[in-house]
Amino acid sequence: MPATILGLGMALPKKVLTNFDLEKMVDTSDKWIFERTGIKERRVAENESCSDLGALALKNALIDADLSPEEVDALIVASGSPEMIFPSTACLIQEKLGLKKEILAFDLQAACSGFLYGLAVADALINSKAYKKVALVGAEKITAFVDWEDRNTCVLFGDGAGAAIIGSTPQAEFGLVSFSLYADGSKAPLLCIPAGGSGMPASPETIKNKKHFIQMQGREVFKLAVKNVASACQEVLKKAKLFPADVDFFLAHQANERIINAIASQLGLSAEKIVLNISRYGNTSAASIPIALTEIYNSGKLKKGSVILLAAFGSGLTWGAALLRWSKDFSRKVKNGERDAENQNN
Ligand code: COA
Repeated sequence: MPATILGLGMALPKKVLTNFDLEKMVDTSDKWIFERTGIKERRVAENESCSDLGALALKNALIDADLSPEEVDALIVASGSPEMIFPSTACLIQEKLGLKKEILAFDLQAACSGFLYGLAVADALINSKAYKKVALVGAEKITAFVDWEDRNTCVLFGDGAGAAIIGSTPQAEFGLVSFSLYADGSKAPLLCIPAGGSGMPASPETIKNKKHFIQMQGREVFKLAVKNVASACQEVLKKAKLFPADVDFFLAHQANERIINAIASQLGLSAEKIVLNISRYGNTSAASIPIALTEIYNSGKLKKGSVILLAAFGSGLTWGAALLRWSKDFSRKVKNGERDAENQNN
């Protein structure tokens, strides 16, 4: 009985910030941003908190899975921008949705790789047989850590949330097939938020020096992402005894369209297999994979048996890939758009 995805949901903040809006804020242009990243616009949370977005995404995923909140046995929230250092955003979401008390609820910090890491943890929890239904949320209000005066980073990020319900399937050929996950702490300085943790607590000095914002060496991250992720993708395919030609959808963390295309080209994957929504949302960190997965599912493109190659990379550095054979029939509720109109803020 392999672990599999039983339901998907997403939530987005209302406010849209376009490249043209950014042109008025920093020395940049729509042309530069689009050519270098593939981004046209992103969402920015104003009144919505990280747990608001995560709770709404999870609510939608539960509806899709046809489950009630009481049926959730464990809740993992992957986030690089949790609402507080503690308590966990998972506990805040648990309270908002009225999940039962007899659950495991915790945050997972693996930055933009968080959803993929979370999928591996959920897979292990399901395979342990101690948990039947695991809710996995990727939720971000990452723009809270963006320096809107730094053109190197502010054009890249956006907010949002996506969620998946992981359970098991009696069909042995479906579900989560293989994982390859990595971390390399020697590359931590390449992408970090230096202050606000116990290492550099908030002070007038840290605020003055903008140490609470994302700092990034973009070119280095770009090169490592392509090299490392392509190799992890090859590994998961090998473990599953599959070839790039068997992949129906290549769904990589939406950080930069050029990074995604470069990985796909190293793998020999054709353009029509690449899932892209970065133009509309930018880099939503741990939320990007579940949002993109929810969108292709809602579009009706995923068929039972579709082979999905998932890939991610982020601060840590962390990176990895996973192979999923889609096991769910397309939901009529979603097809009619009823759920979206009712529950999504977009
Ligand atoms: N608008 C206009 N010009 C900009 C700019 C912006 N928003 N940001 C940077 N530039 C300038 C730079 O200052 C530089 O100018 P210079 O040549 O006069 O010094 C020039 O554009 C080229 O900068 P460079 O950093 O070489 O560009 P790039 O092609 O590497 O693209 C990134 C920059 C950030 C888009 C790219 O490196 C990237 O996406 N890296 C990965 C980052 C990432 O995905 N991080 C999250 C991982 S989860």
